[in-house]
Amino acid sequence: MTTKIAIILIGVLLMAMIVESCVSSKVAEKSGSQLWAENCMRCHSIPPSSAYTNEEWGTIQTHMRTRAMLTEDEYKKILEFLQSEE
Ligand code: HEC
Repeated sequence: MTTKIAIILIGVLLMAMIVESCVSSKVAEKSGSQLWAENCMRCHSIPPSSAYTNEEWGTIQTHMRTRAMLTEDEYKKILEFLQSEE
């Protein structure tokens, strides 16, 4: 009887770990341009990355990060994308 419970518990634990890894890798799988389109178009149309210099993007991104409520990860990826093409 106890072995049965142990097996069920291990099963549940494994399931939780699989689900957890899916959730946490979601942002990691997305590219900066994808995150940019998804997060930044909610409020306004998005200017192309060539519209501003890298320095300007840094300032804009800090400002918009609070507006879009981006996570550290999303913030870095979007900024990387915006600064990748001048
Ligand atoms: C919650 C709404 C919201 C989200 C989400 C948002 N913005 Fe904005 N954005 C604004 C508003 C409002 C303004 C104009 C007023 C201001 O500059 O604060 C603006 C202005 C801008 C401007 C113009 C700045 C300038 O100097 O003219 C740029 C560029 C910009 N946003 C980029 C972004 C990027 C990139 C993202 C994604 C990370 C983003 N925004 C997400 C609301 C938002």
